[in-house]
Amino acid sequence: MYRADTTADEAAEITAFRRAEKKYKLYYEQSSKKFYRKKKPKQVDLSEVLDFNSILNSHNQNDELPPGIAAVRCGFDDRPVFRLETRPGFYFIPGALSVEEQCKWIRESLRSFPQPPNRTNHNAIYGPVGDLFVAAKEGKVLLEEEGSNGDGQKWRFCEEGVAKLRSKGNACKSVSGTALLRKLRWSTLGLQFDWSKRNYNVSLPHNKIPDALCELAQKLAAPAMPKGEEFHPEAAIVNYFGLGDTLGGHLDDMELDWSKPIVSMSLGCKAIFLLGGKSRDDPPLAMFLRSGDVVLMAGEARECFHGVPRIFIDEENAEIDSLETHFSEESHLLDYVRTSRININIRQVF
Ligand code: SIN
Repeated sequence: MYRADTTADEAAEITAFRRAEKKYKLYYEQSSKKFYRKKKPKQVDLSEVLDFNSILNSHNQNDELPPGIAAVRCGFDDRPVFRLETRPGFYFIPGALSVEEQCKWIRESLRSFPQPPNRTNHNAIYGPVGDLFVAAKEGKVLLEEEGSNGDGQKWRFCEEGVAKLRSKGNACKSVSGTALLRKLRWSTLGLQFDWSKRNYNVSLPHNKIPDALCELAQKLAAPAMPKGEEFHPEAAIVNYFGLGDTLGGHLDDMELDWSKPIVSMSLGCKAIFLLGGKSRDDPPLAMFLRSGDVVLMAGEARECFHGVPRIFIDEENAEIDSLETHFSEESHLLDYVRTSRININIRQVF
């Protein structure tokens, strides 16, 4: 049951959630060949991972459902929404977003969501960084300008040649737009989440969540909403995953009213999602999340630990064929999407 690199003593100490994270995390085979360059991922047993795509297919074909899973129909394009009997408040909507919708939100997540005043993980080092995706596409370089230039911004994008000239002989720091895009881990929309204090900082400048995203979230939230109430999206966190990136087990508990769901949309490469219980010692359920799937977490499910231990970028497992077709003329988006996953989770804060 435990990985070979975990001793029995260590295994006894780690929680059930951590054990599952270690089980599904990406590890590489140790190559005996010194100059063998391409690292080979270790095989992982996926037989216990719930697959809502197959559940949906067998439900559509013969009305069958595995034990512990129920289907509700609640006006969401008349497609079934699944719930887990052991996790009240958790809902899974397989393929909730059309391919066109997925492409739209991938574009927005890369082009407009990281735009100031929205904050990203890059703010802490570089201050506000605008037009990141365009800069990466155009091969630009973010260069640290010497001293202050009056507007307080010390880092600016410039052409690669200019960056080389300016840094010649100077100790100017620079970083390529491509590297920054690869290192983009999160951006925040609407009310800005302060990760250091783990709360919403309402005094930070922010824009409202875009209307189209609000409307979509309201439609998607319906199965998990208390009767007669409306979902008011006020904040969203966009998580960006590259190969090997994980999101450790956590709770999303900084919102006032837990009866309102978190609406969580998956885009890009397939991932494994772990849904635990109220304690890290409760063994989590593992399930695949594909591009276009939507998860809702409301009520008791808001108190459940959850995380993402793995994304798959290999051809067989990533399951992004339709995205590749749609982005075939947009090489930068295509390159990004082939090795990445994006999660947009939308919240009502108050
Ligand atoms: C989260 O739990 O905050 C995101 C989950 C996901 O990436 O699907």
